[in-house]
Amino acid sequence: MTATQAPGKAVGAPISRVEGGLKVRGAATYAYEHRLHEPVYLYPLQSTIANGRVTKIDASRAEAEPGVVVVLTHENAPKLASTDDKELAILQSGDIGFRGQFIGAVIADTFETARYAASLVEIEYDENEPDADFRADRDDLYTPEQLNAGFETDTSVGDADGAFDSAAHKLAATYTTPREHNNPMEPHATIAVWDEDELTLYESTQGVFWTQKTLAPLFGLDAGKVHVISPHVGGGFGSKGLPHANVVLAAMGAMLVPERPVKFALTRHMMFTVAGYRTPTIQRVRLAADENGKLSAVSNDVVEQTSKIKEFAEQTATSARMMYDSPNIKTTHRLAALDVSVPSWLRAPGEAPGIFALECAMDELAIECGLDPVEFRIMNEPENDPESGLPFSSRGLVECLREGAERFGWNGRHPTPRSERDGRWLVGSGVASSVYPVYSMGGNAATVRANSDGKYEVEIGAADIGTGTWTVLGQIAADELGVPFEDVEMKIGDTTLPNASGAGGSSGITSWGSTVVEAVRSLREKIEADHGGNIPEEGVEATAKMPKNPHSGDFAMYAFGAHFVEARVDEDTGEVRVPRMTSVFAAGNIMNAKTARSQFMGGMVMGLSAALHEESVLDTRFGHVVNHDLAEYHIPTNADVGEMDVSWIEEDDPYVNPMGSKGIGEIGIVGSAAAVANAVYHATGVRVRELPITPDKLIS
Ligand code: MOS
Repeated sequence: MTATQAPGKAVGAPISRVEGGLKVRGAATYAYEHRLHEPVYLYPLQSTIANGRVTKIDASRAEAEPGVVVVLTHENAPKLASTDDKELAILQSGDIGFRGQFIGAVIADTFETARYAASLVEIEYDENEPDADFRADRDDLYTPEQLNAGFETDTSVGDADGAFDSAAHKLAATYTTPREHNNPMEPHATIAVWDEDELTLYESTQGVFWTQKTLAPLFGLDAGKVHVISPHVGGGFGSKGLPHANVVLAAMGAMLVPERPVKFALTRHMMFTVAGYRTPTIQRVRLAADENGKLSAVSNDVVEQTSKIKEFAEQTATSARMMYDSPNIKTTHRLAALDVSVPSWLRAPGEAPGIFALECAMDELAIECGLDPVEFRIMNEPENDPESGLPFSSRGLVECLREGAERFGWNGRHPTPRSERDGRWLVGSGVASSVYPVYSMGGNAATVRANSDGKYEVEIGAADIGTGTWTVLGQIAADELGVPFEDVEMKIGDTTLPNASGAGGSSGITSWGSTVVEAVRSLREKIEADHGGNIPEEGVEATAKMPKNPHSGDFAMYAFGAHFVEARVDEDTGEVRVPRMTSVFAAGNIMNAKTARSQFMGGMVMGLSAALHEESVLDTRFGHVVNHDLAEYHIPTNADVGEMDVSWIEEDDPYVNPMGSKGIGEIGIVGSAAAVANAVYHATGVRVRELPITPDKLIS
């Protein structure tokens, strides 16, 4: 939509993204594309062993190559001021903790020269056999102190074990989800330039201030000495949330060539070694219900992976703590620390793999109880949050399930698996619920400026990773100002702007939007108090910090959703097709109908991808992901995605934030893989509990 929006009516409208034209014309400047004077190019040296140390590096042939500026190794690398983070503190010794770890770099006047010269560097290692075998029966699993985002490691309400043992209906099963790599369209990219003691980073990041605050202490700098610029980002899915070692390597390399911009973009191969990934999980789920199908026990005991050099403990079972009503709920998380790279965030870390297991188990127990899977979920809907006891600020799961069932045509479904066929195709349908917390992040501030020509500027160091931030924050500001959307100009993606949190945990609009609303209110008051209600000739501006949500602590705040999937399975080959998905979300007030739909659909496709395609295969002998490119690491193409019916319910939640919005970046992926798996079961009668559902698992 391009028509002018009436004042006060921008929020909710399907406004096309304001930077869309720039992107279509190739004029939106991504990190690697900033034009700087006399850049040089960095190509990394990466460890070919997974455990041990570098004993010798001979760079003489590389250094002799015409065009090579310098070769960086642990022998000449700048000493970092902080080495606490072993993922980021690269080149401080010859030690190697995983295969692919950066052990140096060649900087040259062209990319091709740097890459060629890197092949000339001779490296000798002292190699230890890597331990990269992820199994639940290892005797060295350990209990992390806490989980990502500060969640408790283990929880127990009531007596889940006892209730399980004595239940009328029960299901105990182990579900596994594989290692998955984020792979946004734009690989990580940096241009780093030092000027005296100031570092400028043109960076592809989910948060310019998160990058600034992580990098500054490594180099012993005040945060203000690190300037991060990131106007456009080609996706991240969490891998650009917190900086990885590629940024450190670029900044270190740039130290050796002062005032020369150093350009470093990861190749697709490198995306499988240094930029984070989703941990594989092994989840032992137990559910129990009484003779009527009322849940009496829910438990999920999770084993997952971390790196020996740095802990990342994913919150896989947290959604089992709050999803359904049960007097007995137990969750645990154990970690295997291996000689592998460091896992990190990937779209809905925790919820995505955790809800896959829980929602498959719910399907299995519904069948065991002889109940329709939709009705089974609805009859186990909690009154209040089972974990905290707090009321939900709003909980639209039942409405999503009912609405989705209607839209999909669920009602009247034959419950028996393998009861429908279309030629060679076995046809089935499946359902799963979705949930994602409403997070808000601290530290935000925004400045709003009113100019005498009636135009407004809004400044906040927020991120647009392809999600629509440029547009949606402008919509929020315009409505709060009561002016047409076109009269507001946004400035985001730069640390010279007011401090902002990053795009993570689907928290962006809650955090930044609340701050923008507050800044507009401050501006209004200022115009009223100081200027008699009129904008002065020279303009006027106001800055405000994000207000504390007065309702936080009073409510459990989550977005919900329901997915319905039709699956068709070729009886002979095991090929799975998903001709249609219907998903309904309850995510508060939807800020932009067009960008929201894209976000939801992107998540749904990523869930389809997790269900059928994605798996990073690790060769444990070498600690090496062997399918490290998009030819062998499969993701859906257009031909794999059928009809996508995306919608949402009207949900009025006055407690989450001033906009009444909930984050939508991640909820689409949560539960969608389970809905596919449940549909495949219904089509075939084969229950696949190990993702991805590849044809070999369906033919016997
Ligand atoms: Mo998202 S995985 O929290 O960037």
